[in-house]
Amino acid sequence: MKIVTRRLFLLITYLSVVLVLQGCNSANDPSAKTVGISMPTKTIERWNRDGNYLKTLLEKQGYNVELRFADNNILHQINDIQVLIADDVDILFVVPIDGSTLSRTLEDAKIKNIPVISYDTLVMNSDAVDCYVSFDNYRVGALQGQYIVDSLHPDETDGTYNIELVTGDPADNNAKFFFRGAIDVLQPYIDSGKFIVPSGKTSFDQVSTPLWSMDLAFRNMQNTLASYYSDKKRLDAVMCSNDLLGLGVLNAIQSDYMGKNIPVVTGQDGDIAALRSIIDGKLSMTVYKNVGNEAKVAVSVATAILEGKAIDESLLKDLPAECVFDTESYDNGIKKVPSFLLVPEAINAENIDTLTKDGAYVWDKNGKYLISAP
Ligand code: BGC
Repeated sequence: MKIVTRRLFLLITYLSVVLVLQGCNSANDPSAKTVGISMPTKTIERWNRDGNYLKTLLEKQGYNVELRFADNNILHQINDIQVLIADDVDILFVVPIDGSTLSRTLEDAKIKNIPVISYDTLVMNSDAVDCYVSFDNYRVGALQGQYIVDSLHPDETDGTYNIELVTGDPADNNAKFFFRGAIDVLQPYIDSGKFIVPSGKTSFDQVSTPLWSMDLAFRNMQNTLASYYSDKKRLDAVMCSNDLLGLGVLNAIQSDYMGKNIPVVTGQDGDIAALRSIIDGKLSMTVYKNVGNEAKVAVSVATAILEGKAIDESLLKDLPAECVFDTESYDNGIKKVPSFLLVPEAINAENIDTLTKDGAYVWDKNGKYLISAP
């Protein structure tokens, strides 16, 4: 009897261990998990790329993925997120169109214990956000400002230079970081009178462009040229916070600027049209953000969260790209969101070939322009 009891005890212990191990496995088994992704729009090149990178990477790791694009429409995005929450996704990636419109919707994610990763752009006014994966957005702007300083050499020349500023969507928290990074580099020259802003538009609100619209950037620049440069005043540089704005501004310069020089114009994202323009000698630079790496980092962080790991500096060592862990800079109005920030790079005609190194771009068959890698 004693032996039977002992055997029974051993069997029960063995079965319990097997069950617990199986439980752990399925808790960490990607094929049992669904990741929900809410993207702003397909019409902006980079969100298309991000959406596809994230989906492909997550599926490669075995996760199920529900990817939704919101047509740049806030109500559409709210609906997308509601559907993902109703579908009981295990984790949510959100790139907000307007950072401050999702608080109510994300409360439901919190109630259901669905972790939320704010991807690239910060979700504001919500304590449902667990962490933020992005680039060092302040540095993006600083690279743009520094490029203008390095191109005009205000410290080594006697002249003064006319510059203008064009930044992004006021509803996008990143735009404020880009602008601040750039203005912190340019302001000392504006203060000393080396850089003059003929339009007088130097505050974020005066130079922001809703929805990062290329068309609006074009029309605003046409107005600026008509109002402040019609007397053949020379325009030396336009600090533009991304490629769309830079290309819009260049179109206006091409059609309405009377000077002979091509002003220094900055960009960001490494969009194909922008790289073409750099090669054609029009856009001066872009700030390249390797969104493939951003997606890889976000997927690693998501996996860590799903495995129950804490979101802290210890995750850095296992991340697939260089990042800074920042717990101070990104305050969304309710909390300081722990952030993993990747490193952006300045690209111009001289170093554009470096873009082929990470596999995202290749030269076209004539070796003239860069195109997305197949
Ligand atoms: C992104 C930029 C992008 C812009 C417009 C920002 O939030 O960080 O890379 O150019 O949105 O889509």
